[in-house]
Amino acid sequence: MREYSIAAIPADGIGPEVIAAGQTVLASLEMRLGDVKFTFENFNWGSDYYRKHGVMMPSDGLEQLKKFDAIYFGAVGAPNVPDHVTLWGLRLPICQSFDQYANVRPTKILPGITSPLRNCGAGDLDWVIVRENSEGEYSGHGGRAHRGLPEEVGTEVAIFTRVGVTRIMRYAFRLAQSRPRKLLTVVTKSNAQRHGMVMWDEIACEVAEQFPAVTWDKMLVDAMTVRMTLKPRSLDTIVATNLHADILSDLAGALAGSLGVAPTANIDPERRFPSMFEPIHGSAFDIAGKGIANPVAAFWTAAQMLDHLGEREGSSRLMRAVERVTGAGILTPDVGGSATTLDVTEAVCDALHSSNF
Ligand code: IPM
Ligand code: MG
Repeated sequence: MREYSIAAIPADGIGPEVIAAGQTVLASLEMRLGDVKFTFENFNWGSDYYRKHGVMMPSDGLEQLKKFDAIYFGAVGAPNVPDHVTLWGLRLPICQSFDQYANVRPTKILPGITSPLRNCGAGDLDWVIVRENSEGEYSGHGGRAHRGLPEEVGTEVAIFTRVGVTRIMRYAFRLAQSRPRKLLTVVTKSNAQRHGMVMWDEIACEVAEQFPAVTWDKMLVDAMTVRMTLKPRSLDTIVATNLHADILSDLAGALAGSLGVAPTANIDPERRFPSMFEPIHGSAFDIAGKGIANPVAAFWTAAQMLDHLGEREGSSRLMRAVERVTGAGILTPDVGGSATTLDVTEAVCDALHSSNF
């Protein structure tokens, strides 16, 4: 029996609904596979915890998480707590302290889901965005002076280090090399930002020499939005800075039909710490508690988690089950259906148990 201990942090809004759904399908998968066991410990950290305790997680929170094999995360963000508090109080400390420097965001048009792109259907769009996840525009550097006065200044300093850029570039080239098309696009804004971004371009050239099998090209981030929209089939693996990839991955999610299906993995490739898996969609308070949140992103990120844990067969089985369900039109309202979270979850569990899987 292969056993994995997983810390679940459902947190805010629809987070608890989709994480519970994910735990249900993982329990089904466990029964189906027979030789794998997932043990969950649930943590009640998040905005409710913040209202009670003044912090998003306890001071030894990171210490508590260290012993787990992986973290399964819902969403943070609540209407009455400032977003920078929720973000910098929970999710970013986990990503940064555990040096989860590779944020991996696959995009596909799943069967049964309609892309807003004309003539693009299932299978036409198959990208992985690799987002630098430890520095850049999210390094937290900067400050404010002369608050409230006319001469007030605010700075937000993007930090790029040779170590940070080289390691994400290597990760992206390695990933591109492992995919059938062996194609990588390096995104920067090195025309306008002539320091850190030019360093990105230079490091990309250096790292490329170690990966002769990979065909790669460079794009400026603004032009990249055009290419993603007008020539989506020309792209495969994409690497970009923390902020650029944040923006591009929302576009990717929209082009694939809905952010409700988009997953993300915050990976420590060196495996010194647990990696963290989450849906991209966020807490979505407008639909929280209604039972209609799309659980597909939470399932897909669970499949990424299985992959990371070395459970390749379980991972592809889970994705096949998800694709069968979306293909059968069992869809939540965000992707044009009328199914509930529970309907989709039960359908995926049924697919997992069906004999031809
Ligand atoms: C994402 C989200 C977050 C980010 C938000 C919630 C701060 O948009 O995971 O893409 O910008 O990293
Ligand atoms: Mg985002």
